[in-house]
Amino acid sequence: MEKVTVLDFARKKASGEKITMLTAYDFPTARIIDGSGIDAILVGDSLGMVVLGYDSTVRVSMRDMMHHAKAVARGVKRALVIADMPFMSYQTDPATAVRNAGRFVREAGCSAVKIEGGGEMVERARAIVSAGIPVIGHLGLTPQSCSKMGGYKVQGRDSRKAGEIIADARRLEEAGCFALILECVPVSLAREVTAKAGIPTIGIGAGADCDGQVLVINDIIGYFEDFLPRFAKQYARVSDVVRKAVQDFKKDIERGEFPDKDHSFTG
Ligand code: KIV
Repeated sequence: MEKVTVLDFARKKASGEKITMLTAYDFPTARIIDGSGIDAILVGDSLGMVVLGYDSTVRVSMRDMMHHAKAVARGVKRALVIADMPFMSYQTDPATAVRNAGRFVREAGCSAVKIEGGGEMVERARAIVSAGIPVIGHLGLTPQSCSKMGGYKVQGRDSRKAGEIIADARRLEEAGCFALILECVPVSLAREVTAKAGIPTIGIGAGADCDGQVLVINDIIGYFEDFLPRFAKQYARVSDVVRKAVQDFKKDIERGEFPDKDHSFTG
């Protein structure tokens, strides 16, 4: 079984084949996603909200991310595993960015990292790429700076902001990023960035014209009940399945029906 690499991303962009990506945060889920043939697994800092119960991604630490990135990497044989660099693990200076990116590769076994933002973050991307670590950029709605953006809002609706996103995309490509995530931007802007970029775009709430798509696993399987973003499609309702199993287990114990002889040892 051939491992997916950043070269496969470039090949798919060239051939027009769509790139598939999902998040994962633990070993069993990573195994299922990998076994299903998804190209890339992002250990997203969405971890903070959908798994750890924080109220935003800025609360996620390097320690949180390393713990989950290691578990995911252990469960994956084929997909490209990308670690999301958490808030303040790369923003302060290039040396810190390179050191923390290196930990995801050397200690956790990931193959690439993701950082959010354009502007000054372009230089962080360049420094990490120069150290030999593949980087995926992230533009549009960048949740780590959502306070600055005034909340979780679609980005690039006005021409000034759209122009900034197009310019940042070009600069991140020139800095050596192998792909770009575009989150919550209008379809027309994502189409323009995708057409202009030499590297693949992966959309999340950015329409169908991106070179690939990513969603949060808990959203698509229905295993996070607080909210479902409008752009996320729910393919199952795992919370209901878990709730029913837990309720049946409780009932069985209370009625004296578990454990029965099939689940007990004799002699
Ligand atoms: O943290 C995350 O899961 C993400 C994606 C959904 C793009 O950044």
